[in-house]
Amino acid sequence: MKIGIDRVGFATTSLFLDLKDLAVARGVDPNKYLIGIGQSEQAVIPPTQDIVTLATQAAAKFPKAELAQVSTLIVATESGIDNSKASAVYVKHLLGLDDFVRTVELKEACYSATAGLQFAKGLIVLNPNERILVIGSDIARYGLETGGEVTQGGGAVAMMVTANPRVMVFGDTNVAMTKDIMDFWRPLYRTEALVDGKFSTQVYIDFFQACWQRYRQLTGRTLADFEGFLFHLPFTKMGRKALASELGDREDEVASRYWNILAASQIYSRRVGNLYTGSLYLGLLSALNNGQLEAGNQLGLFSYGSGAEGEFYTGTLVAGFENFIDHPDKFLDQRRQVSVAEYEQLFNQQLGMKSEDITFDVSNDPAEFVLAGQTDHKRVYQRK
Ligand code: COA
Repeated sequence: MKIGIDRVGFATTSLFLDLKDLAVARGVDPNKYLIGIGQSEQAVIPPTQDIVTLATQAAAKFPKAELAQVSTLIVATESGIDNSKASAVYVKHLLGLDDFVRTVELKEACYSATAGLQFAKGLIVLNPNERILVIGSDIARYGLETGGEVTQGGGAVAMMVTANPRVMVFGDTNVAMTKDIMDFWRPLYRTEALVDGKFSTQVYIDFFQACWQRYRQLTGRTLADFEGFLFHLPFTKMGRKALASELGDREDEVASRYWNILAASQIYSRRVGNLYTGSLYLGLLSALNNGQLEAGNQLGLFSYGSGAEGEFYTGTLVAGFENFIDHPDKFLDQRRQVSVAEYEQLFNQQLGMKSEDITFDVSNDPAEFVLAGQTDHKRVYQRK
């Protein structure tokens, strides 16, 4: 049975920061951000957006008739808004899904959307008629004036998983690996992550190599069997580092194909920043929209979550995939640019750990789904 991704939707906020402005404010050469890190813009998160509103916005792009058939909703996130209640329950409500639906939240840093897709595949093997909605939704927060600040961002990627999918069919062999490593974590008492940044980039590459080499051993397949690889992109340079670990200074047709696909996959991440769980899938969306890809092309996908877990798997593109994916260029072009001062103000206004009642002014947020505040320790969401 063919199982895979049937639709892809993407949402981010309507605000962005030009990283040249951030570089000037932080006294850094802009080329460090633009070239050294590979980021040019960053989504700025107003207090009226969180992982629930972003996840809902991404999935609300799907036809209502298809949403009405969803049997399981999985929200993957590492920036959850509650230590007990799953964000998927709020998303289910805002999307107006049927009450007879299974909802759950998954966590393992930036990796868990990939686990969600695998679990969805298992559910469809059990019942091919099921329609599983998997959403990776996150806000990447490292803190003002930290080393990770330039790699912040936020947004959500929603994927419908079905039998006979119309975007990408999952391959049969997956390689997942886990090791207990402290490269990035966020204790319960913090809203910003703690990260050993350089260490995390090395662990990422080690996991990519270990998963890919094991995949090769298991299947006998080589680079020549794929159109290219897609990588989790915490910042776009990370994908370049990972691919370079495999290609080295190889300069043949295969290598140039891989570099072209990587470049196409980096376009949206360069403008939005890190989506944590959604980043690999924003890369997929970017490659589908901007790469020279066609039906039958095979892609390798490397998912990585600090802590640490990696997974390498593959997919084959389906004819007409472009009709079932989001095309976010126009939305990204129409976002409002904010100054560094406004970004800092919005950063500090986020609900975070605040326990008091609060009402946010939602009139400036053009999004359909907004966080209007908090009453009696309960988040208040609104559909405009
Ligand atoms: N022009 C061009 N490139 C420049 C430059 C300039 N003026 N100044 C510096 N650079 C390059 C550096 O050579 C380096 O390149 P390299 O990584 O290829 O060696 C790159 O910019 C980053 O510089 P560095 O000094 O290493 O940056 P940093 O100490 O600020 O750390 C991160 C960068 C990514 C580690 C940091 O932003 C971080 O911790 N991010 C979050 C962690 C993360 O996302 N981890 C990923 C795994 S999930």
